Amino acid sequence: MSDTRTATLSDLDPGLLRGARVLVRVDFNVPLSPGGEVGDDTRLRAALPTIRDLQGAGARTILVSHLGRPKGSVDPASSLGPVAPALGRLLEMEVPLLADPPGSSELLEKIRQLKDGDVVLLENIRFLPGETANDPDLARDLASLCDHFVGDAFGTAHRAHASTDGVPRTVREKGGRAVAGHLVERELRFLRETLADPRRPFVSVMGGAKISGKIDLIEVILPRVDRLLIGGAMANTFFQALGLDTGESLVEPDRVEMARELLDRAGDKLMLPVDCVVGDTISDDAQVRTVDRGEVGGEDRIGDIGPRSRELFAQEIRSARTLLWNGPMGVFEAPPFAEGTLHVARDMAEATDAGAVTVVGGGDSAAAAELAGVADRLSHISTGGGASLDLLAGKTLPGVEALETIEDTGNGEGS
Ligand code: 3PG
Repeated sequence: MSDTRTATLSDLDPGLLRGARVLVRVDFNVPLSPGGEVGDDTRLRAALPTIRDLQGAGARTILVSHLGRPKGSVDPASSLGPVAPALGRLLEMEVPLLADPPGSSELLEKIRQLKDGDVVLLENIRFLPGETANDPDLARDLASLCDHFVGDAFGTAHRAHASTDGVPRTVREKGGRAVAGHLVERELRFLRETLADPRRPFVSVMGGAKISGKIDLIEVILPRVDRLLIGGAMANTFFQALGLDTGESLVEPDRVEMARELLDRAGDKLMLPVDCVVGDTISDDAQVRTVDRGEVGGEDRIGDIGPRSRELFAQEIRSARTLLWNGPMGVFEAPPFAEGTLHVARDMAEATDAGAVTVVGGGDSAAAAELAGVADRLSHISTGGGASLDLLAGKTLPGVEALETIEDTGNGEGS
């Protein structure tokens, strides 16, 4: 049986890349420290396999990224200035930052002078108003800098912007190739393929503040999972749907009816915490106690799942063969409310060691896995927030749709 799949860098003949100018859309939207340094280089590291492959093949690599949300004009606080040397340190080479705008003869000249194996980074593409507007002129100017395009900005693939959508389409129109990089390939493999045909039991752990932001995901995942474990402030809205008192806790009153309907529909599949850690405040120095979920007082604020819930969730996690985790179980940034989330992270790592496939989506859960010291024991931690939610919820990603597809012969190549 044959089908189509997104073409990837691995599908290109390396001979095609020698001496070729390749524009790579990366997602270097990284946090900067107050001193202006790269605060977390996870996204830079995630781009290395593609960059190194291109270098090895003798390509001339032009990296394009955004940082933050500047409004179409230069904002020094969002400059990629600190990112270029941070990437250079990882690659052990100089990575010049080119600030001349696409379409300028200065930039064209600098690109002409690149040598095989060189890597340069263009200045924040959102300094230009055409980027978020997906302006065809900007797409043409960027496409004129390169022979081929590689889409590797998974975290930005849910945006139909000039550098994610217009450029690959324009490059293809002028006869170049436009394929996914290794990061996008890996993200698609874990978030789409693994979860489409999961080994069972398939258990999803969901948390975070709001049902509203995850309802599309819940709707899609519920029929597919064997168990859905819900924690975080999201669970409070479900508690209200059960008629329980949630005190001063965060709740979405306009989603209580939705939660009630989900509980009816999901039956035993959906598990809520049975106990909670409550505090007088949600802060590092909160006075906390553990209570059954039916005993939350009028002044209490729920900040975490309780120890009995941790154990119940752990049993489900440890018996699963496929796990998807999205969202913390509590306010894990505050130590009195961290244990539930760290427990899930450690249980996920144990499940992985025992052979389960574990996939983590969303920046908070990824940060919690880091904090628990288990990030490198999980099968896959997505670099995308909104993009991973959209993909998991079955939506198409413009930054992937704009790339070439090729026939998948079903022999596993590229999958
Ligand atoms: C992200 O960090 O989620 C991506 O880089 C996308 O950023 P955006 O939400 O500003 O488009």
